[in-house]
Order: sequence, then structure tokens, then C-alpha cells
Amino acid sequence: MNLEENLNKIWQEAEKEFDLAESLQQLEELRIKYLGRKSYLANFPSIFKKLDIEEKRKIGSFYNELKKKIEKLYLDKKEILSEEKIKFDLEHPGKQIKVSHQHLISQTLEEIKNIFIQLGFSIVDYNQIVDEKENFDYLNVPQNHPARDMWDTLWVKDFKGYLFRTHTSVFQVPTLKKFGVPVRAVIFGKVFRYEATDRTHDFEFYQLDGISVSENANLGNLKWVVEKFFEKFFTQKVKIRFRPSYFPFVEPGLEIDISCVLCNQKGCPLCKNTGFIEVAGAGMIHNFVLKSAGIDHRKYQGYAFGFGVDRLIMIKHNIDDIRILHSSDLRFIEQF
Ligand code: DAH
Repeated sequence: MNLEENLNKIWQEAEKEFDLAESLQQLEELRIKYLGRKSYLANFPSIFKKLDIEEKRKIGSFYNELKKKIEKLYLDKKEILSEEKIKFDLEHPGKQIKVSHQHLISQTLEEIKNIFIQLGFSIVDYNQIVDEKENFDYLNVPQNHPARDMWDTLWVKDFKGYLFRTHTSVFQVPTLKKFGVPVRAVIFGKVFRYEATDRTHDFEFYQLDGISVSENANLGNLKWVVEKFFEKFFTQKVKIRFRPSYFPFVEPGLEIDISCVLCNQKGCPLCKNTGFIEVAGAGMIHNFVLKSAGIDHRKYQGYAFGFGVDRLIMIKHNIDDIRILHSSDLRFIEQF
């Protein structure tokens, strides 16, 4: 058998065998057989040396070509088998799939909702775009009254008298009208202000507002509800402090403070060393509001309260910039 025939035979066998290889281990055996140190091809140069010039010329390039072709057979098959290995290797680490989850605000709204349900309140909803009567007049803030300056308002262009609600208190009169009395109801949702933003102000944010109207709802009840709410929300005991304040739709009007949940009243930047943080506006619902809803104010009375939800979230999770809460920054969102 001459050399060329030998090489040809090797090629034919190699082609067949590489094609049939089913595992990387079999492939490695073939590599050793055809390209390894003891293989015919590896030892060919010693045979080659002994040839005369004419034969060398004939067989040299044929040999080189063949070697390259077998190397390629090997590499191609290696790629195919490696991919298959990944496909079927049960222990190969899987690709990490990102699973979405509720935003911290939505999670907190759920949590708050459940607390109020436990406290005996119904959860209601109301429009985000309302007319100025609902947002102001029914709540004892007539047109041109200076109290309107308490709420920086975003008016809807081309729809005179319509605005983005500046507070969730808009729900009070419609809810009293719809459900009648006695009633205990809470709303949460976005409110909007025409306002420059900074670390503690955004032009849209979340509020909740609650009312309880019956023949004898009173400030003592309010104090109990608020205390229970904050104890459940912050999962610790809190002290409640009422301070006189002014909101046109309550009389008397109050500001509610709770004992600082960060420092336990030892004094810290959050409570500005006072031991208390301001968390809500509240009061006894003004007769004017009850009358707006067609309720007999001689027979019924009620309390109302309003919290800034973002502020509660910021206190609970130690977040110092409200704007990050409303951004879509995944580095923030993924943390909760
Ligand atoms: N609506 C008020 C605001 O946005 C907050 C508020 C104060 C709500 C007193 C109430 C209340 O229900 O009784 O500033």
C-alpha cells in the first residue's frame, strides 16, 4: 500500500468515526487515535524524512491538508457535543430569570388596607380628576377663601373648574352621600400638587383619608384607631399626641404626632430631637361638610383623618428622598 492510499484510508475512517462519536469522552479517544502523539499522522514526518524529493513534493501537501481536515472534524464535533452537554446537563446552573414583584408603595398600600379592614373600616375609591366643588367647596373652602392657598392646585387645561385632586379628603362628601350613615371608610390614592420638588416634596404622592360617622363617633375613638393603626404599621408601641391645628373641614382640627419610631424618643434627626414625628391631620368633621352630604348634623357626628402614605413609607424604611419612591430606578425597587 503506498503512502497516499494509507492517508486516504485514514481520512475515510476518521470521517466515519468522528461522525459517530456520541460523547466528549469518545471524541477524546478519537483525538488521541488520529492526532495524538502515537498516531500515524504524528509519526508521519519520520516516514516523510526518508522519501526522495519527488515523493516528498507529491505527498507533503496532501499530508498537511489531511491533518488540517481531521483537526477540523475534531473541533466541529467538539462544539456540537459541548452544546448538547449544556442542554442535557441537569446540574448545569440555570439562567437566572428575574421575577417581578409589587412596588414598595403597592406593597405598603396592601398592608395599610389590611390594617384598616381589621379595624372595621371599608375600603373605598374615588376619582383622581374632580371638580373644584368636590375638592374645595363641599369641604368648606369656598372660592377665593384664603385657605385654598393651603393646596397648590393643578388645573385641567380646557376643562374649566376641573383639577387633579389635591387631597384624598375629596372622597368624604361623595362617600357619605353614597353609603349614608353610620359609616367607616378609608380611601388611599394619588394626589397632585403644583409644587417644586425636593427631598420631601413631590408633585404627586399618596395619601389616605378616613372617616367615621355615627351618633357618637368622637376624638377618643379617633385616638384609639390611630394608635392601633400605627402600632400595627410600625410593629411597636407608639404614643399619640394631638396638637390643635386648622383645616377648614374639621372643627376642632388637629395635627397628630406619634412618638419617634426610630429613636424611641431619645432624640434623632427624624424627630428633630423632639421625640415626636408629625404624621397626620385630623379632627371632628365640620358641620358644613356633613350638611354638604345631606346628613343631619344634630344627630350625627364623626371624625376624619388624613396621612401622607409616602411619608410613612419613608419613615418605616429609612428613605430620605421621596422622589426615589416614584422613580423607576431598579437599584431602588429591587431592594424591597
Ligand atoms: N386633606 C388634608 C391635606 O391634604 C389632610 C387632612 C387634614 C385630612 C385633616 C383630613 C383631616 O381628613 O381631617 O392637607
